[in-house]
Amino acid sequence: MYVLYTIVASLVAFFVLKWMKKRRYCTDLKRLDGKTVLITGGCSGVGKETAVALAMRGARVVIACRDPDKAEKAVREIKFRSRSLLVVHMELDLANLRSVRDFCETFLRQEKRLDVLVNNAAMPGVLDWTEDGFSMCFGVNHLGHFLLTDLLLGRLKECAPSRVVTLTCSSYKYQKLDFQDLNYNLLPFFTYCRSKLANVYFSHQLGRLTQGKGVTSYAVHPGFVQSGWTCHYSVLFRVLMRVVMWMFFVPCEAGAQTVVHCAVSDHAAKMGGGYFVDCRAAALRPFARDAGVAKKLWEASERLVKLS
Ligand SMILES: NC(=O)c1ccc[n+]([C@@H]2O[C@H](COP(=O)([O-])OP(=O)(O)OC[C@H]3O[C@@H](n4cnc5c(N)ncnc54)[C@H](OP(=O)(O)O)[C@@H]3O)[C@@H](O)[C@H]2O)c1
Repeated sequence: MYVLYTIVASLVAFFVLKWMKKRRYCTDLKRLDGKTVLITGGCSGVGKETAVALAMRGARVVIACRDPDKAEKAVREIKFRSRSLLVVHMELDLANLRSVRDFCETFLRQEKRLDVLVNNAAMPGVLDWTEDGFSMCFGVNHLGHFLLTDLLLGRLKECAPSRVVTLTCSSYKYQKLDFQDLNYNLLPFFTYCRSKLANVYFSHQLGRLTQGKGVTSYAVHPGFVQSGWTCHYSVLFRVLMRVVMWMFFVPCEAGAQTVVHCAVSDHAAKMGGGYFVDCRAAALRPFARDAGVAKKLWEASERLVKLS
C-alpha cells in the first residue's frame, strides 16, 4: 500500500510540475529578412535563444556582449543552430557608460538599420558598483539600457515600424522606487527587483514618448528560466538552485518565446506595446503603471547618464 501511495504521489507531483512549467510558444511565423536586431547579453541564456530564433527568421542579428571570447563562441553556436551567417557580435559593457557611448557610435557607423532592440542583459541581485559609481543592478539593468536606447532611438525611428523589447521580471512588484535612493544597494534581491521595476517604468515611458512615431515598446517577463544567472553566487547556492531550477524553471528556449513574440508578432504590434508574459499581454500592478513616476524616473535617468 505504501508503495502505491508513493507512486501515485510521484505521478501527481510530476504532472503538477509539468503543468506549472507549461509555456506558450510564439506561433507567429513572420520572417525578418532585411531587418536588423540588436540583443544585449545575447551570448547566453534567454538572449542567446532569442538570437537563434530571430536569426532563423532571416534577421541580421547583432549580439552586444562584454566578453569578446564568449561572444565569439556564441556567434558560432547561433550561426550553426539558426543556419544563418548573418550573426555578428560587438563589444558592450553596460556597467560602463563610456562603453555604451562608444558602442552606439560604432553601431550607428557600421549598421544601416535597427528594427528591433532587445534590452535583455542583466545582473541578478549582487551588491557591487559600476564603473560610474551606480549600484550594479540599477546601473546595468536600467541606466545602461536607458542610455543605449536613447542613443539608438534616432535609428529606430528612421527604420519605423520598429520595436524595443525590454526584459523585466514579475518580481518588480516586490519593491517600489525610492527617488531619494535610486542607487539602493542593501539587500541583493531587492536591488534586482527595483531595477526590474525601473525597466517597467522605462518601457512604458518610452512607449508614451514614441507614440505615433512608429516605435513600439514592450516589457517582457520571460518566466523563470534555467539560465546561467546563478554563476554570480556561491557554489552551495548554485547547487541548491540547480535542483529548484530543474523542478520549477523552464528551459531558455521557452523563456525566449515571449521576447520573440513581441519582436515579430503583428498582433502584439496592434496592441501598441505594454507588459507581456507567456506570449500574452498581462496586467501590471497599478503602482507600476503610474505615468508620473515613469516620467520622473526618465528625467532622473537623463540627469544621471548626463543626457540633459
Ligand atoms: N532567468 C530567469 O529566471 C529570469 C526571470 C525573470 C526575468 N529574467 C530577465 O531575463 C533577462 C535574461 O536573463 P537570463 O536569465 O538569460 O540571464 P543570464 O543567463 O545571466 O544572462 C544575462 C546576460 O547579461 C549579460 N550581462 C551582464 N552584465 C553585463 C554588462 N555589464 N554588460 C553587458 N552584458 C552584461 C551577461 O553577460 P556575461 O555572460 O558576460 O555575464 C549575460 O549574457 C534578464 O533581463 C533577466 O533579468 C530572467
